[in-house]
Amino acid sequence: MSSQSTATDTDTDSTQSLEERSTNRSQRPSSARFREFITSGWADRPAGDATPCPAAPFTEARRSALSALFPGDRLVVPAGPLKTRSNDTDYRFRPHSAFAHLTGLGTDQEPDAVLVLHPVTGEDGTHGHESVLYVRPLADRDTEEFYADSRYGEFWVGARPSLDDVTTITGIRAAHVDDLPDALAKDAGAGGITLRVVPGADPATEILVESLRALGGAQVVVDAAAEGTVDVDAELAEALSELRLVKDAHEIEQMRLAVDATLDGFADVVRALPRASEHRRGERVVETTFDAHARLEGNTVGYETIAAAGEHATTLHWIRNDGPVRPGQLLLLDAGVEIESLYTADVTRTLPVDGTYTDPQRRVYQAVLDAADAAFAAAVPGARFGDVHDAAMRVIAERLADWGLLPGTAEESLSPEGQFHRRWMVHGTSHHLGLDVHDCALARREMYLDALLVPGMVFTIEPGLYFKSDDMTVPEELRGIGVRIEDDVLVTADGNENLSAALPRRPEDVEAWMAGLLG
Ligand code: GLY
Ligand code: MN
Repeated sequence: MSSQSTATDTDTDSTQSLEERSTNRSQRPSSARFREFITSGWADRPAGDATPCPAAPFTEARRSALSALFPGDRLVVPAGPLKTRSNDTDYRFRPHSAFAHLTGLGTDQEPDAVLVLHPVTGEDGTHGHESVLYVRPLADRDTEEFYADSRYGEFWVGARPSLDDVTTITGIRAAHVDDLPDALAKDAGAGGITLRVVPGADPATEILVESLRALGGAQVVVDAAAEGTVDVDAELAEALSELRLVKDAHEIEQMRLAVDATLDGFADVVRALPRASEHRRGERVVETTFDAHARLEGNTVGYETIAAAGEHATTLHWIRNDGPVRPGQLLLLDAGVEIESLYTADVTRTLPVDGTYTDPQRRVYQAVLDAADAAFAAAVPGARFGDVHDAAMRVIAERLADWGLLPGTAEESLSPEGQFHRRWMVHGTSHHLGLDVHDCALARREMYLDALLVPGMVFTIEPGLYFKSDDMTVPEELRGIGVRIEDDVLVTADGNENLSAALPRRPEDVEAWMAGLLG
């Protein structure tokens, strides 16, 4: 990576402040003649390159749904800032998922942008909102930012969209981010508009909102029933999370694309298994094969790839991925491609490294598969989200009882006081999936775990069994075996659709698929 620089360069004074020292390694000239030279002689930028994003009609409907929940309030949804990785280098940018959901912007768009829904009242007295997207537009070539700003400058990180581009892409009126403070302050004084900001997305915007609140007095909504107060920002975060519980047609299409890209990545990994078996850190071969595919075909991975061979498969979120991959072992691969629109899949298969399950591995695998099938049967409209987990747990408890592992019957284990079977599967069976791998996580319990399933919901079904190698309560032949099978499910009008069904699940199908790929 080349060195970064800021505006001043040649100061060698030993009294420099610590901030100034970041310029010590820069050799960039700073004369007026140089500045004039570097900022001139560029062709006009091509006009009209931007095209509307296909999500735009859908994001408008999403913003309308949000608007209806908060009449009269000003809603502030930041994309978030660049985040420092080390010293003065940043992570690749990913906008906050609520921002992506409401604007349709994906990939690395757009650091420091803030979507604001300004309250408006129609002539007939009806409440609504006007959306404005505050962005840092592309700087002109005659600015210092153009060539000297290592965080935002076109020379350093490439061109950003102009304000007109942003409006064309999103269908939302764009304004300069410098206008944000005045725009938020309007009518926000004492007794004025309630400001709500998504918490945790952007510290600078939160500080700005807090300062405006301090001017206007505390803004809290009194919850009469509880005779307490409710955090207005938490209410916004909750609403934004719940807005994503049922996917619209565009989101479902994006989920299909993310799943399809993910399944191709699993095939790439199978083809790489001989190489993984030969490498001292075969799990890294698996991880990098999948992650390379994710970068090539999508934005990146939706979460850190879990590439767990042998005993490592019993660690639920094994992302160190530094172990070997040996014939005779199982490889648990839990991975998802996040596509450019930022929707991600989340799929797990547990594969025999040498292409054939041993008998004990097959026995555990079949139990998990049976649990998954039971969960699929329960994942239908009108059932509760929690029923899906309960169906899987019944099968898991029954199998473990059959194998004599439970201190009692399956029924005793399934009772709230028992739950012994959870020793071998401490995680849940399902989570919503979408822009976040654990989507809709701030939804209320009655909207999530206790909610009735409706068409358009997308979630995982991912039972597992994990027998650690030092677990003396299980027979020796099962120790060190970890199995998870995870699919992505769309609830439909008459049942469900397994979006990841093209990836084999039954042990004999997995073996045949692997044999075909390995030749
Ligand atoms: N795939 C990782 C998880 O669901 O936690
Ligand atoms: Mn998952």
